[in-house]
Amino acid sequence: MIKQVIFGDPFETDAVVKPVEQANKLTYWNVEDTAEKLIFRCKLSEKDIVYGLGEQVKGINKRGGRYISYNTDNPNHNDDSPSLYGSHNFIVVSGQQHFGAFFDTPGRIVWDIDAEGSGEIVITTDKNVKVVELEGDSAYAVTRDFLSIIGQSFIPPLWAFGFGQSRWGYKCRRDIDNVVEGYRTNGIPLDWVCMDIDYMDRFIDFTVNSKRFPELKAYAAALKEKGVRLVPIIDAGVKIEPGNATYDEGIAKGYFCTNHEGTPFKAAVWPGMTHFPDFFQPDCRQWFGNEYRKLTELGIEGFWNDMNEPAIFYSEYTGILNALTPAPSTELEKESNAYKDYRNFYHNVNGQRVLHEKVHNLYGALMTRAASEQLDKLLPNRFLLFSRASYIGAHRYGGIWTGDNGSDWDHLARNVRMMPSLNMCGFLYSGADTGGFGGNCSRELLLRWLAFSCFTPLMRNHTAILTRRQECYRYSGKEDFQSVVSLRYKLLPYIYSEFVKAAITSDMYIKPLGFEYFDDRSLSVQDQLLVGESIMVAPVIEKGAKGRTVWLPEEMTEVRYDGNGFVCETVPKGERKIKVALNEVVFYIRKGKCVPVCKGAQCTDELDMSDVVLIGDGKEYRCYIDDGITKEISENNIVTLRKR
Ligand code: GLC
Repeated sequence: MIKQVIFGDPFETDAVVKPVEQANKLTYWNVEDTAEKLIFRCKLSEKDIVYGLGEQVKGINKRGGRYISYNTDNPNHNDDSPSLYGSHNFIVVSGQQHFGAFFDTPGRIVWDIDAEGSGEIVITTDKNVKVVELEGDSAYAVTRDFLSIIGQSFIPPLWAFGFGQSRWGYKCRRDIDNVVEGYRTNGIPLDWVCMDIDYMDRFIDFTVNSKRFPELKAYAAALKEKGVRLVPIIDAGVKIEPGNATYDEGIAKGYFCTNHEGTPFKAAVWPGMTHFPDFFQPDCRQWFGNEYRKLTELGIEGFWNDMNEPAIFYSEYTGILNALTPAPSTELEKESNAYKDYRNFYHNVNGQRVLHEKVHNLYGALMTRAASEQLDKLLPNRFLLFSRASYIGAHRYGGIWTGDNGSDWDHLARNVRMMPSLNMCGFLYSGADTGGFGGNCSRELLLRWLAFSCFTPLMRNHTAILTRRQECYRYSGKEDFQSVVSLRYKLLPYIYSEFVKAAITSDMYIKPLGFEYFDDRSLSVQDQLLVGESIMVAPVIEKGAKGRTVWLPEEMTEVRYDGNGFVCETVPKGERKIKVALNEVVFYIRKGKCVPVCKGAQCTDELDMSDVVLIGDGKEYRCYIDDGITKEISENNIVTLRKR
């Protein structure tokens, strides 16, 4: 069953793209209509699990928490943070019955998921919301139905599945050269390097500082020869700078968000005072997206979109208050350091002035759409694009990273728990800042984190300015890093195939264990995941641990990789204690399945994906093989490989 009930006059978010039957009444929810809000209630049974909510804190099971959908630039993630950068309003209740609900509104939503043990879910939305209700035989079946109505995931090129290195603070060509050389001379694979805000002229979008990055076109081409792509950042705010072509055109055409007086709203971000493009206007999206041409013409094939909640340091109304507000005191402040400003500017939606606060959660998604739709026209091949802020629907246009995490073990654990929820909401191309953004990453944490990131589609090491240098080759014992990162490249035939197959069949790439195994232990495990159809991962996420306890819901092949080769052993169902050295990655292949592994390489351009060996006890594998860049994605590219 899939149906939708419309309350009031909801804003069209374009999240759902397939027709859904209209109904008058919801099956699982009681609705209370108050003067200002709608309150949806649903009783839970004792054992019900609540999955979903995408980019949110706490467990894979969201039960016992309070969450707020309100995209927020929050650099201090912890289990009490009500909101992060994306709003992914889809949940699945799973127990005796299995049903899902998507609350489709770009406004704020408060989720009380049995937070105080009342046995009830209470969801508070504004008066205008479209609720899509789904029902099926399992949490997995419900999720797949949901994925089928929100449209196919963005599929980046193969090189975007290679390892990326980033740091806020690469200031010039020499900094990037050092990174490339550091990886290449130490034999640690690398496919792309991010350019953070310092590549720009005074942090102005679509400019390049030509003193520090002279002849970027020739430079990008030379790096590409070495199998390395440059991936620059683009921020949402356009600096107020008469004479700058982007700014001048935005002003002339009325493409910026406006304030109470009807003139462009002013807010400070990295470049100082900026205006925010009004991505709700189709013409503005086209204009802004087309500005990426200034970089694609220089040979750039990938971008990351940032500060698009939008993040605001201070504005013409709040002065420097936002920036100076110390620890947040009220819940609303915790949600967003810029919440006051979200009431101070407007969008032009088909000629109507719409207060930003009402449609806040859609802003970043529309920036991604703006970039993606034009990049598709500007570039002959597939491109890389990932964003910080998002809403369901944006998964069709780009991937996401999970924002400014920290270099600590909790954040690694959170990354593990968040991945299946992101996949439930369509965001297959996703990942965290490996090693952590804030703080200094230890060698042990980086190795353990890389060992997990080997399995996430986006595998990027990124860190903040002033933190310890976090490139793999900066740490002692480079062989350990070679070992872990090289596993990623050996697994790429599998990772790429599983990703593309998941995208084209409305499936998840990473799933909770409880989506396929229904014993109590599998349903409750928070630190093991299914990756594609064959692999189960059980990452080591504890400081100082020499290994861990793994739950095997059935007999599986245990695979141990230490840089030299794959050692496989059949291991029985049940609990198992394993040792995992820092240079090792241990993963499991499900019974009757196999995984294609190739020889690996220093970059994807050199990878021979056709020369694979199948490991695991299965007999065959359906491998997706193409040139890694073509826009045509077709099931005809799936080849069945059989064990000899
Ligand atoms: C934001 C981004 C971070 C980036 C920094 C500087 O904090 O989340 O990834 O490095 O801005 O651009």
